[in-house]
Amino acid sequence: MDPSTSPTSIAPTRRTFIRGIAAAGASTAAAASLGKAGLLAPATAHAHPQHSPNDFSDFRALAPSSADLFEVPEGYRADVLIGWGDPFADDDGATLRYGFNNDFLAYFPLRGDDEGLIFVNHEYPAPFFQHGNVDGARKTLEQVRIEQESVGNSIVHIKRGRDDVWQVVSPSSYNRRVTAHTTPLTFTGPLAANSAYPGIGTVAPGSLANCSGGITPWGTALSCEENYQDYGTTGGYGWVRPLLDTDDYVNGDGSSAARPAKFGWVCEHDPYDPSFTGAKHTALGRFRHENTAFRARPNKPFVLYMGDDRNDGAVYKFVSELPYRPGRRSENLRILASGKLYVARWEPDGRRRFDAAGTLLTATEGTGWWREVTEDELVDTHVRIASNVGAAEWTAHYATNRPEDVEVGEDGSVWIALTNNSGVNDVHGSIRRFVEHQNDATAVGEGAPFEWEDYAAGGRHDGAGTGEEGFSSPDNLVFDKAGNLWIVTDISSGTLNDPTRPQAFHANNAVFMIPAGQEAGAATAYRFANMPVQSEGTGPYFTPDEQTLFVNVQHPGENSSGDPSSTASYSSYWPKGSKTTERNPTKPIPATVAITKVRRGGAPGSRIVPAPPLPPRDTTPPQLTLDVRERISLDSFLHSGLTVRLHVDEAATLDVRLRATIRGGRRRGWRWGWGERRIEVDTARARTDAAGGVIVTLRARGRERLLLRLARRADAQLDVQAADRARNVTTRGARIVLT
Ligand code: FEO
Ligand code: CA
Ligand code: CA
Repeated sequence: MDPSTSPTSIAPTRRTFIRGIAAAGASTAAAASLGKAGLLAPATAHAHPQHSPNDFSDFRALAPSSADLFEVPEGYRADVLIGWGDPFADDDGATLRYGFNNDFLAYFPLRGDDEGLIFVNHEYPAPFFQHGNVDGARKTLEQVRIEQESVGNSIVHIKRGRDDVWQVVSPSSYNRRVTAHTTPLTFTGPLAANSAYPGIGTVAPGSLANCSGGITPWGTALSCEENYQDYGTTGGYGWVRPLLDTDDYVNGDGSSAARPAKFGWVCEHDPYDPSFTGAKHTALGRFRHENTAFRARPNKPFVLYMGDDRNDGAVYKFVSELPYRPGRRSENLRILASGKLYVARWEPDGRRRFDAAGTLLTATEGTGWWREVTEDELVDTHVRIASNVGAAEWTAHYATNRPEDVEVGEDGSVWIALTNNSGVNDVHGSIRRFVEHQNDATAVGEGAPFEWEDYAAGGRHDGAGTGEEGFSSPDNLVFDKAGNLWIVTDISSGTLNDPTRPQAFHANNAVFMIPAGQEAGAATAYRFANMPVQSEGTGPYFTPDEQTLFVNVQHPGENSSGDPSSTASYSSYWPKGSKTTERNPTKPIPATVAITKVRRGGAPGSRIVPAPPLPPRDTTPPQLTLDVRERISLDSFLHSGLTVRLHVDEAATLDVRLRATIRGGRRRGWRWGWGERRIEVDTARARTDAAGGVIVTLRARGRERLLLRLARRADAQLDVQAADRARNVTTRGARIVLT
């Protein structure tokens, strides 16, 4: 057994490792409480009861699955919000297209929980699906343009309906795209407009390789350019001369215009301001940036943690020169332009090393400290530091096992997903956490060491319950407000479901949740969602009320090959079909999924994408029965609404409308009565996956509620009809009377 998962290996003192650390100021864990003004609301940043009635984390874990389906537990619904190529418009009416391979996602509120902007990264193109030519040496300009326009970022205005289903708001002045070639970003920091780096200069033509990211407490999004090295080469995507009239996409060291370093940076965007010009911050270094996670305290330096996603990559932090000033947005927008970058040096080892049989050879806890990164190391951070400290020192003390997502807990602890590392036989990866010296995010140098421990190891847990078999290759992480840790996994497509590999137990990639408060080495991860074939879940992000979790499905059917125009070549048909059952063969599409906890009486939707097929139609018209009590009091209706039970004999979408007629009655002291007045009180949508019962609650809201309250005072009579507007459904009419 891996020693880090063996309870006997946990020294008693380690049980208090993280406990008792004072609250550490605003952090990534409070991300969901970011307001439109870019201010964190501290009151909402604290954990609410871990088992409130609508607790998103209260679910029955799923069994592993290799089906070509997206699946969530009972009691949740999953709806595709938007996918690659879907149109949305700005308020000029220009048609925008959602990009490929959605990765990072953050929700920026406009009106609380129900309306906001999603900021989404589109990491890399897929020539096979987009135009069919996978040969980077034989690209046409048109093909390159298709790819360039499919990466970058999307800012999409969305709104949650009363049926709990999220929809894109289009047109909207907020809707826009950032691409690789038509949306210039300006450079900031020490390497911008620096004569030693003419290949950086002042501006980049766009953004690419946007993997994960982060937010800032001043209301901007940070997008991380990760695998930027593959574009400006004929063997890669082929974005090169003579097809293009530029060397901008070449991966150089910035020392000349022919050796540019335009990509590989952390980019900052303001989703709320459509006229905002994105910034690339050179002070944060240039490496395979996965994401960012911050710690911010008023009037103190701002700290950003980052991982370099490559085998033997390091963990970094940036400490700003300017203080973070809550509410002073224009000042805060300058914070990432100046400061110092540091790299973590680990003792006794940075990497979890295993022998060929899978036995762990290294310690699962230790210390470390932050070494300063010099200005001339920034442009190619990993390579230059490794060269300066020497290869042996680097591999012993700086290298880690592919650090991907970094998140900050509410107590200030820093958590890192170490995905895996074939170089040291780390097949399954782990989640590590550390606490800064005196929990001070700005602590640096050998005299201010941090303490680390490996919190949870990937790998199989034999004998565990369904859905508790363990995770492998953790990638993006997110904490909910209760401190539960949500994890998405990224086993590579070539390894997934290979029965000869140790990851086979895992089946498809998945979303897991580790409940708050579990001890290091003894934490159980519960499987919450299963991804479709050859995809990974990315960018998990909660709405502020934590009733919706957005998950991006990236690269479904990634290893498809053969004739690109033939559906027979596709290894996935998701989300419109399913390869598993050969249902609806269609091109796979990366897409954003909204997972919503179904409220009591709410529309259940489908917990599977694509939703199960409808049963075959026969000649008998489908039947719907409205089952309502015949009389309810107006008092009771205004207080609790009207609950209608529907019985349908097949899957259906139903709009249940409540109409009322207010008749007679005279308000005391008024000369006239109501006469007869018809009002539409409410329309509620219900969806069912199959035949059976659905419960819909109708309520009076707004103006209608006011009218009914006046009617109550006037002793008016109400005749209320509940009528359905469902297509293909007949109804036995029902009539109710409110008294
Ligand atoms: Fe793009 Fe590190 O995943
Ligand atoms: Ca990632
Ligand atoms: Ca990854």
